[in-house]
Amino acid sequence: MTFFDLEDSVAPAEKVAARRKAIDAIRDLSWDERILCVRVNAWDSKWTYGDVIEVVGNAGERLDEVMLPKVQSAAQVVALDLLLTQVEENAGLPRGHVGIEVQIESATGLINVEEICGASPRLEAVVFGPADFAASMQMPMLTGGVAVPEYPGDHFHYALTKILVAGRAHGLQVIDGPYLYVRDLDGLRELATRTRALGYDGKWALTPDHVGILNEVYSPSQDQFDRAFDILEAYRRASDQERRGAIVFGDEMIDEASRKMALRLVARGERAGLRRSGS
Ligand code: GLV
Ligand code: MG
Repeated sequence: MTFFDLEDSVAPAEKVAARRKAIDAIRDLSWDERILCVRVNAWDSKWTYGDVIEVVGNAGERLDEVMLPKVQSAAQVVALDLLLTQVEENAGLPRGHVGIEVQIESATGLINVEEICGASPRLEAVVFGPADFAASMQMPMLTGGVAVPEYPGDHFHYALTKILVAGRAHGLQVIDGPYLYVRDLDGLRELATRTRALGYDGKWALTPDHVGILNEVYSPSQDQFDRAFDILEAYRRASDQERRGAIVFGDEMIDEASRKMALRLVARGERAGLRRSGS
């Protein structure tokens, strides 16, 4: 997925001109299969409706999603959904063509994340915004999304987990936000490994150097992928042929829950292009 930003990386004086640049990039560059998204300005600005009308109205079918930042309530998602429906109709796009990603990056947004994640059938992903969230929480830091050595744990753990639970309950992809020390690739890997361990699907890349690292961190290793297949096979044999619901596989007990974990891992590996060794 690639997104074009109209929000916080664009100066106010450039907000309106940036819309045309995003439209031209979507229409004129030769894109591969990736999802294309535009981050519009938040509803507490004066640009949101203009961003949607102009960019979605003119970018054509190749634009897949709109990202809504600083989401505070389900009503804000509903408002975007309704606006998109009208813009799609006027632009000759199929109804429901444009999906929505929401960024949770404030105290109010986090309180309401469960309703937010269920607010529209257009929703595809929920994204944590660590920089704005740190500002909203008045955390005493100047860089977003980085580790805080003086805190004995992960200062974002509660927010990350709450967002993950809400996103999973509604079948959304759950994505971690940016790591702002852009040249510190080891730090990026460490922070990404944390949210990967929780269950996150991915993390924002800010530079091309980030992409390879993040793809590696959020994809299963070949060994894990192969082991998942072995578990599925062993469990299928046990339950279908031997009518056993739990068996010892290597050094561990596996049961129906192990099958589910293995299925998720296989699906994630297949999305990353893995194939079983030897096949
Ligand atoms: C991203 O938008 C962030 O605020 O971290
Ligand atoms: Mg933000």
